[in-house]
Amino acid sequence: ETLIELSKKMPKTELHLHIEGTFEPEQMFAIAQRNQVELKYNTVDALKAAYQFTNLQDFLDLYYQGMSVLLHEADFYDLTMAYLEKVHSENVVHVEIFFDPQGHLSRGVSFDVQIQGIYNALQDAEKKWGMTSKLIMSFLRHLSEESAFETLELAKPHLKWIYGIGLDSSEVGHPPEKFLRVFEACKNLGLKITAHAGEEGPPDYVWQAIEQIGVDRIDHGNRALEDDKLIEAIKQRNLTLTVCPLSNLKLCVVNDMKNHPIKNMLTLGLNATVNSDDPAYFGGYMNDNYASLINGTSISKEELFQLAKNGITGSWMEDHHKERHL
Ligand code: ADE
Ligand code: ZN
Repeated sequence: ETLIELSKKMPKTELHLHIEGTFEPEQMFAIAQRNQVELKYNTVDALKAAYQFTNLQDFLDLYYQGMSVLLHEADFYDLTMAYLEKVHSENVVHVEIFFDPQGHLSRGVSFDVQIQGIYNALQDAEKKWGMTSKLIMSFLRHLSEESAFETLELAKPHLKWIYGIGLDSSEVGHPPEKFLRVFEACKNLGLKITAHAGEEGPPDYVWQAIEQIGVDRIDHGNRALEDDKLIEAIKQRNLTLTVCPLSNLKLCVVNDMKNHPIKNMLTLGLNATVNSDDPAYFGGYMNDNYASLINGTSISKEELFQLAKNGITGSWMEDHHKERHL
């Protein structure tokens, strides 16, 4: 059996996935048409041709444009269900999905509409396939802490559906400590905390995430490897890193897959996992991310198992589900 076949068969989890980043151009055009919204690009091909990024911000500019056609509950449902069907076919058994409420509230789409559509799809996936899930609300870090607090207020009637809080968007210039008070409020509500850190931002941002915010997980974390003391601190706290190989390549966080640090992370004893981040923009879903590591690095069968296992132990699924998958 080849490593590719093996990676496809393994039960996998997805712990770093922006639902708005699963918006395939074909579906984007279909929903734009039914909502009578104009897109900046005239054809699917023209849009796809624009997917060439030199950094995170290049991508984010298109990501916010793309999500602007989402208006109604059915749009959020259809987007989420298309993603879930895709990864169900790839033996993904559990997903933890980020959504960016502020990216829709600013266009007049209510919190209710967003979360109802997404949550109904997650429920249907559990009923149909037994796929378990958690929903993570993310704050956009290029906006103010006050805006994050306002978003948290809007989320309060829906907290039974929200398991964790994340921090995403433009990293450099927007350190975790900017959101210290709002994350404190989230923790007091019993919510789990994760933050994008060390994707483009320096090791200091990862330090802030763990020491000041007290995160339960780190999204990306690539640049933590520049600081030996930080590596030790992450290990000491047993934090999981949600690593995204194809994303890192497309956003030039790594220059070549052969230089991707994920093997090194495992060797150092870090709890690295494989995730797809924004698969519609970065050229692949879960199995493509594993394939990129198999084809681009010298990753071994044991390391592939370890990555998948880390995805289960580092997830926020209930213990009885973890036991079922391990
Ligand atoms: N929003 C969606 N994907 C993101 C990423 N990889 N980094 C920061 N913000 C994001
Ligand atoms: Zn991300």
